[in-house]
This record gives sequence, structure tokens and C-alpha cells, in this order.
Amino acid sequence: MDLIPWEDGFSIDIAGIDEQHKKMLSIINKLNSLFREKKTDSLEEIAAVIQEMIEYAFYHFQTEEKYFELFSYEKSKEHIEIHNQYRAKIEDWYKRYSETRDGAVFFEISSYLHDWWTLHINHTDRDYAPFLKEHGVS
Ligand SMILES: [Fe+2]
Ligand SMILES: [Fe+2]
Repeated sequence: MDLIPWEDGFSIDIAGIDEQHKKMLSIINKLNSLFREKKTDSLEEIAAVIQEMIEYAFYHFQTEEKYFELFSYEKSKEHIEIHNQYRAKIEDWYKRYSETRDGAVFFEISSYLHDWWTLHINHTDRDYAPFLKEHGVS
């Protein structure tokens, strides 16, 4: 069972962004499975997926923030602040994980990942969708 299964209801009706959200969730789900199956023999694979999870989120935030800047989105500041909280949280978590390489540390953050992405996509991101669409983003 995926940690955050993609549902059609997650769509904010902007194909490029939906694709990025789908990919983001699939990386988190892949990492969750690795830890759940206790694939402790594949530390390298786990490290690679963690790296992918961090880098892809940062890349995705940049995509959104570039649009905000380009079109002067009025809620840009508060939206970026929420991204920054995630950046800080995940970096702090990664530091702790790196010190221990303990799978249990993943489960400290898994419910945060679930709640953060579900809420962020469904509310914070959904909020900008009509604005971006007005500016021709599809
Ligand atoms: Fe966002
Ligand atoms: Fe997003």
C-alpha cells in the first residue's frame, strides 16, 4: 500500500504541475516501500532515492516559484515560505538520517510527508491554479 496513493482528486488541472506532483508522490512511495520491506541490504539504493526525493522537491518548488515571479502572484511570499519550511524540515531530517542510517528515522518523517504533500497539493497549490491558467499555463 502506497504511503500517498495518487488520486484524481489531487489534480489541479495544470498538466505539467500534475505530472510533477505525481512523480513526487511516486518517489516518496518508492522510498516508503524500501523502508517498509526493510531493504537494509540496499543502503545505496535508499540513499539514491532519498537524494532523488530531496532534489525533485526542490526542483518542483523552483518550477512553481518561477511562475510566481514571472506573473507576480500575489500570494507568492506566503507560498514560498511554506516551501521553505519544507526545505528546512527535510534538510534537518536528512542530517539526522545521515548520522544513523537507521530506517526507523524514516518513519519519524513519513506522516509529515503524507500530511504535508496532501495538504499542500490540495490547498496551497490548488489556490494558484486559476491564476496560472489565466496566464496561459496549462
Ligand atoms: Fe507549492
Ligand atoms: Fe506543488
